[in-house]
Amino acid sequence: MADKYEQVLELAKRRGFLWNSFELYGGTAGFFDYGPLGAMLKRRIENIWRDIFVINEGYYEIEAPTIGIEDIFIASGHVGGFSDPLTECQKCHEAFRADHLVKEILENPDTLSAEELTDVIGKNNVKCPECGGKLGNVYEFNLMFKTAIGPGGKRMGYLRPETAQGMFVDFPRLVKFYRDHLPFGATQIGKAYRNEISPRQGVIRLREFTQAEAEIFIDPRDKTHPKFKDVADIVMNLYSQDGQANGEMEKMSLRDAVTNGIIAHEFLAYCLALTHQFLVRVGVSPEKTRFRQHMKDEMAHYAADCWDAEILSDRFGWVEVVGIADRTDFDLKAHAKQSEKELSVYVSYDTPKKVEKFVVKPDMGVLGPIFKGKAGKVANALKALRLEELSGDVIEVTVNGEKIKINKDSVKFETVTEEIHGENIIPHVIEPSFGIDRITYSLLEHSYFEEETKEKVDDEGIRIVLRLPPEVAPVQAAVLPLLSRDELRKPGNEIVAKLRRAGILVSFDDSGTIGRRYRRNDEIGTPYSITVDYQTLEDGTVTIRDRDTMKQVRANISDIENNIFDLIYRGKSFDDAGKGI
Ligand code: ATP
Ligand code: GLY
Repeated sequence: MADKYEQVLELAKRRGFLWNSFELYGGTAGFFDYGPLGAMLKRRIENIWRDIFVINEGYYEIEAPTIGIEDIFIASGHVGGFSDPLTECQKCHEAFRADHLVKEILENPDTLSAEELTDVIGKNNVKCPECGGKLGNVYEFNLMFKTAIGPGGKRMGYLRPETAQGMFVDFPRLVKFYRDHLPFGATQIGKAYRNEISPRQGVIRLREFTQAEAEIFIDPRDKTHPKFKDVADIVMNLYSQDGQANGEMEKMSLRDAVTNGIIAHEFLAYCLALTHQFLVRVGVSPEKTRFRQHMKDEMAHYAADCWDAEILSDRFGWVEVVGIADRTDFDLKAHAKQSEKELSVYVSYDTPKKVEKFVVKPDMGVLGPIFKGKAGKVANALKALRLEELSGDVIEVTVNGEKIKINKDSVKFETVTEEIHGENIIPHVIEPSFGIDRITYSLLEHSYFEEETKEKVDDEGIRIVLRLPPEVAPVQAAVLPLLSRDELRKPGNEIVAKLRRAGILVSFDDSGTIGRRYRRNDEIGTPYSITVDYQTLEDGTVTIRDRDTMKQVRANISDIENNIFDLIYRGKSFDDAGKGI
């Protein structure tokens, strides 16, 4: 029997959600197209993400190029270290992730070096899974796609492997936009590219995929969150480092997780809460979702702590769909070094601080005539001295390698009290990073049901239904004249026009039996079907059918668009849809 992945993919291809890219030319692993329904589904998921992160949290969206210049990825560490271990079959020349081939032999193969993996493969006589051939030495393969910018190939660039770097590189502009006020965040939804070695997991491992990322710049001295109390009672499946060591996942509130030090701080916990709310809202089953902390040796090069949201898939087991990392000041420091620019925020104190400061005051009236053109440099060298270096009768400084002696009467010094109004700090970054394709697939899998019904269609009592939340369903309503006759088509078309004006994506279908039309809409997840019949012509009412319960109510045409809008977006219950007739 076909597994859930095959069932979902069969439906996805047949009904226009997803299919392999370049099918006309035989296809290439790691690329998928979204068809007419899939592209709309994905867009609705992205818009819910925007609603949460951009509108509700106020982290404005930016759009940076998908090609980045080499400096960016030298600074970020991707040129030096963004690689997976590759081994090639000597016989059929197929490439494999070496760590994946030894998964059954070792616990954490991704922590081994290329040499160690070569050793494990040799000692355990691991062969090519395709043809049984001998495997070659393992080497690190950089996952970035390299390209030349401009003619002549002199300037190298890379397709971005994460959208995140766009936000780091734009930091100086963003600081100004947010008027130096921490915390602030910027977001981006866009394509990322990774030249995955052997993407054999369909939609889960793509070479071109969509990320939705937020880089939230916070004050490192304060990792609390003002809205943490609003989410503190949310209970989640947490699989911490300790939990993994004991093989125990715990259901725990975020409040307990922070209090017990399982999640390091409120800001990180708040981002876990947003992730949880987003996943539930788009329709991922909370029972099939867990948050797993990275083990210490698994953490990315930039992260001090990281939690992955993982979703249980029928075929692939637990799949990472979101990574929520505390990237500290790693990226800003790295870009400051590479660009030789200061990347910091001036933070004003609420009340100015008084600090004691030691000041040296060279007497220029004396030093000027003695040292002439060099006097300024001598004065600066004196100003840099500490109290203990100024204690003798003669003070010594070095200017341009030359030792110079100065009489102590030419220099005065004192300790003064100064008012400081603020300081420059390098923010830390909390990053929730979402893989939209993996989420879209998981959602299809979790909403796919084959169920028996009493309503037989063509003698078939099984219906396929996609129980997508109405807010994410690509087609939101179907208008179905009971018979394909002009007197029923006309009011049907009027309803279509009203719904379109209200921003609802609606289809019109008058071909085939009504039962078949309901089935067609059930399997693409259309939440509401509106049927126009002969009673419509008498009393101006239609039936609305609920996809999940298959219940029907009669409702007025006069405010059908508000009725459907409220069902989709305002949580109106279906039982209330027929009221007011
Ligand atoms: P994996 O371990 O599965 O390769 P990763 O740890 O490399 O994933 P991240 O670098 O944390 O993933 O990327 C952030 C998010 O981007 C992931 O949670 C995932 O949803 C998505 N993502 C990463 N690589 C791919 C890919 N090849 N195809 C589709 N989505 C991906
Ligand atoms: N920005 C996190 C990642 O893509 O790995």
